[in-house]
Amino acid sequence: MDAGDLRGVIALDGPSGTGKSTVARRLARRLGARYLDTGAMYRAVTLATLRAGLDPDDEARIVPIAEGLDLRMGTDPDRSTVHIGDEDVAAEIRGRPVTLAVSAVSAIPGVRELLKAEQRAIIQREVGGGHGIVVEGRDIGTAVAPDAPLKVFLTASSDARALRRARQDAAEGRPSTVDATRLDVDRRDRLDSSRSASPLRAADDAVRLDTTDLDLAGVVDLLLTIVDERGLRGVAAERAGR
Ligand code: DC
Repeated sequence: MDAGDLRGVIALDGPSGTGKSTVARRLARRLGARYLDTGAMYRAVTLATLRAGLDPDDEARIVPIAEGLDLRMGTDPDRSTVHIGDEDVAAEIRGRPVTLAVSAVSAIPGVRELLKAEQRAIIQREVGGGHGIVVEGRDIGTAVAPDAPLKVFLTASSDARALRRARQDAAEGRPSTVDATRLDVDRRDRLDSSRSASPLRAADDAVRLDTTDLDLAGVVDLLLTIVDERGLRGVAAERAGR
């Protein structure tokens, strides 16, 4: 690691379409840090659930599937890979069947407990190896890494989120309309915010940023300023005993 690299964890939460993934990846790159997409982990469990022919709320059958899943998450922000065993599932977990079912699967407490433990193990491994890590999701600041020295909660208007998501889908070969995407995004937010196990919400001490009218490069620059104000890079973090 370099002297200017991130030490410790940055927790980045918020609903979909706020620019979270783009911001998290860019921030990790600029800080010489690792990156973990926890939404991809919920999506991978959902894919395994659908492949097993189960309903996405069949808790009793889904938890054992999640327990037995050989999920392998890459943490390189330039090549964030998702494998089940040796199979690359990065594209398939973004498809419509998984997107429609993932909120139900991620509301299952047993699945959340399991993935939270895996996420903490990945974070510990990276931090123990001397790396910083940017972790994005819905409950990172509240449940997975509540001690993170920087927690960020991104929001944006429903229109802006639908537009961003539709553009991203089109760029990745999954064309849809902005209206259909808005319905999808709103439906998932409602489910993610109202579930009883670790609902989507900002940690009390999170930095809240509304990205509706901000370009994402500006958001990254702003967050880098906060990282430096808090002394979260190598040399400064070491001096502060972090
Ligand atoms: O970020 P995403 O759209 O890929 O996330 C997929 C789903 O996973 C989302 O609907 C909510 C859920 N999720 C969660 O419940 N907790 C997380 N830490 C990350 C994602």
